[in-house]
Amino acid sequence: MDPSGEVTNPPTPATDDEATERVRVVWRGDFVNQEVNVLHAVAFGTRVYGDDEWDWLTLTRRHSLGWVTARSGADLVGFANVLWDGLVHAWIQDVMVSPSYRRRGIGTAVVHAARDGAAAAGCEWLHVDFEPELSPFYIERCGFEPAQAGTMRLD
Ligand SMILES: CC(C)(COP(=O)(O)OP(=O)(O)OC[C@H]1O[C@@H](n2cnc3c(N)ncnc32)[C@H](O)[C@@H]1OP(=O)(O)O)[C@@H](O)C(=O)NCCC(=O)NCCS
Repeated sequence: MDPSGEVTNPPTPATDDEATERVRVVWRGDFVNQEVNVLHAVAFGTRVYGDDEWDWLTLTRRHSLGWVTARSGADLVGFANVLWDGLVHAWIQDVMVSPSYRRRGIGTAVVHAARDGAAAAGCEWLHVDFEPELSPFYIERCGFEPAQAGTMRLD
C-alpha cells in the first residue's frame, strides 16, 4: 500500500480493465448496509442478509472502534470490522474481500489499515482468530504472531 492509502495491483502486465484499477483502502470509510451484506454473502458464501437483519451501520457505530472499507471505483470490494474493549485491546472481525479481487494484496491492506487505526486510537494489542489454513495470510503476510486462542459456540 502506498502512503496515500491506495493499493497498487501486482506489477504484472494488466490483461483487463479490472486489473488496472486501483483500490482505495480507508479507515472508517463510508458504506451502506446493503453493499456490506452483499459483500459478506459473496465472501463467506452466505445468503444476502437484509438491512433489518444485519444493520452494520448501527452496529459498527455502537460497538466498533472502527472499520475498513476497500473500494474499486464505487464498488465495495473489501471490508473489516474492528471491535475493542475501549482501551488497549482491539479485535478484527469479518475480514472479507470479493472473490474476483482476491490475491492482489487487498486483504493485507485492509488488515494493515485496521492495525494502523487501532494503534492510532491508543490500542496496544490487535487480536484475530482464524482457521489454520489462513495462517499464511494472517501470520506470514499480515504480521500477526501465532498465539493460543479459543472460541466457544453459544447457540
Ligand atoms: C482471507 C481473505 C480476506 C484474503 O484476502 P486477499 O485480498 O485475497 O488477501 P491478499 O491478497 O492480501 O493475500 C496475501 C497473501 O496471504 C495468503 N493468502 C491469502 N488468501 C489465502 C487463503 N485463502 N489461503 C491461504 N493463504 C492465503 C497468500 O500467501 C497471499 O499471497 P499470494 O497471493 O502471493 O499467494 C479473502 O480470501 C476472503 O475474503 N476470504 C473469505 C472470507 C474469510 O474467510 N475471511 C477471513 C475470516 S477469519
